[in-house]
Amino acid sequence: MKIWKSFAILLCSLMSLAFFSGCGKNGDTTKLVMATNAEFPPFEFKAEDGSFQGIDIEIMKHICERTGRELVVEDIAFDSIIPSVTSGKAHCGVAGMTITEDRLRNVDFTTPYYEAFQVIVVPKGSAIQGADDLKGKRIGVQTGTTGDTLASDIEGADMNRFGKGAEAILALTQNKVDAVVIDNEPAKAFVAKNSDKLVILEEPLTKESYAMAVRKGNDELLSLLNTQIELMMADGTMAAIRAKYEGTAEEETAATPSAPAAE
Ligand code: ARG
Repeated sequence: MKIWKSFAILLCSLMSLAFFSGCGKNGDTTKLVMATNAEFPPFEFKAEDGSFQGIDIEIMKHICERTGRELVVEDIAFDSIIPSVTSGKAHCGVAGMTITEDRLRNVDFTTPYYEAFQVIVVPKGSAIQGADDLKGKRIGVQTGTTGDTLASDIEGADMNRFGKGAEAILALTQNKVDAVVIDNEPAKAFVAKNSDKLVILEEPLTKESYAMAVRKGNDELLSLLNTQIELMMADGTMAAIRAKYEGTAEEETAATPSAPAAE
């Protein structure tokens, strides 16, 4: 009897311990864990001092300041972000992430905070002048991105998937791929570093909207983020953050794509 009693007490204390610590990052409302892939300038990148910087990081810092939370940045592979959100390891995925039908099956998205498009990057003087010329070509993309999905649909495409967009660009400079399909702002940032070799084709491929991903049914966080995004759009904070990071590479870029017509 006595043994059972102490066993029960032990069990109870273990359970409460598990309950409190088991809440982990996600149960701790003082922290906001954002999963990202810091290989995507100007949205998220690692600065020389090792700190995370970029538009998404600043947006999240701002939201955390306004809501009394501490921001925790988890830098992981891009295609691990959604699994990290669905499993509850991270509260949200913020990574210049495009809203897609496919992703909407697994996560909920906030109000869009950025309009983007996919572009084609080629070596200067390339015969590739537009989407039609990509048929049967070696195309470099970052694994799991919308650029990956888009290029995979091109007839006869020889897909070359890389963990980082910068690696796809490097392969392009080394003539290992014929073109890279990537988001417009990172394209500008990467091409600016190789402006003697690479250009962005003027005609964009798609129009996309970036939003933050949260676990399906996490309505509390979804509405907190939506409220903050809307506030930041209304009071000019969003525009100020964008202005700080955009355009710095623009002057060095050969071609700045114009916005595509809405679909
Ligand atoms: N917008 C694209 C997508 O959602 C690419 C995003 C890549 N982001 C990153 N942090 N590497 O698929």
